[in-house]
Amino acid sequence: MVCIYLVFFVIINSFSAYSIECEKLLMSQQIVRKHDFDVERELKDYYRMLGPHFIFHLAKSSHWFDSGAGNLGAVANLLSENYKINVFNVPQEYLDYANFFNEKIRSFWQEEFFSKLKITALTYKINERRKLFKLPQTKKLKILTGKYFEETSSKEIESFGKVSLLTDVMGVFTYSSDLWTVLSRYYEILDTNGVAFIALATKNSVVYGTSLRLKNQEVLLVEWLSKHYPHIFSLEEIKQPAVRYFEGQAVRSDSQWVLVIKKSEEFLDLPKFKNIEYSSPGTAPSRVFELAY
Ligand SMILES: C[S@@+](CC[C@H](N)C(=O)[O-])C[C@H]1O[C@@H](n2cnc3c(N)ncnc32)[C@H](O)[C@@H]1O
Repeated sequence: MVCIYLVFFVIINSFSAYSIECEKLLMSQQIVRKHDFDVERELKDYYRMLGPHFIFHLAKSSHWFDSGAGNLGAVANLLSENYKINVFNVPQEYLDYANFFNEKIRSFWQEEFFSKLKITALTYKINERRKLFKLPQTKKLKILTGKYFEETSSKEIESFGKVSLLTDVMGVFTYSSDLWTVLSRYYEILDTNGVAFIALATKNSVVYGTSLRLKNQEVLLVEWLSKHYPHIFSLEEIKQPAVRYFEGQAVRSDSQWVLVIKKSEEFLDLPKFKNIEYSSPGTAPSRVFELAY
């Protein structure tokens, strides 16, 4: 008799855990479907948010995967020969910062860079009503759209081969309720020595919004990852100049945090964690995860 109760208890519990996960998944999918996003960041914004390491890695890359690419502005900018940061009449601090970027982009066009580069960009939707950068017709670019990342297989992303550079700028990582799948798949599609840069939701220079509930405390998921898997995950604060030049004024913005993933070994044995809370107060959601024992 006790056994029957026990089996019944386990079934009810696992069913309710499963239905909580499904509910959170539907919530996240609804936000992505609604697509009320800032989808127009440019390549210079990726540089500002991900830091100069992003440009260094781009220079060495053969396959760039932009996960959550919005209107593909950053990709279109890279493929358009005249793209640069405007440095007309700006302070020295900004000039050095912008010149580094402009020289690198120019060198991409002078060197063999584009003969080896392939790009895959994933976005649930392309928002035609907003400004669209002109995308050149090229076989070097594959656009994956109309499908959630979580439902997209590694094979589909790897049609140009393994990924050497992965970027996620307020994209899939920021909105997904299934970060275990997202991180595991990011790791899987990376080439040996490949790198992923994930821009984290940051408020007043602090990472917020994604925590892991342990027995006695709640910690930031990204801090927990970098503490337990330091050879794979690290957190980087992008301090450089964090200055934008906007309508004649230098605007100092908060520093930005980036989760960096380096593929140092073939497999990542990440313990499964599941989403138990998901709330979206309008912008990036707040999420709590729990280890699934
Ligand atoms: C806030 S926009 C950012 C776009 C771009 N990175 C930028 O900075 O302009 C979020 C992007 O991520 C995509 N996205 C978020 N979650 C997704 C998911 N689970 N599956 C597919 N696309 C997703 C959206 O379709 C959109 O393209």
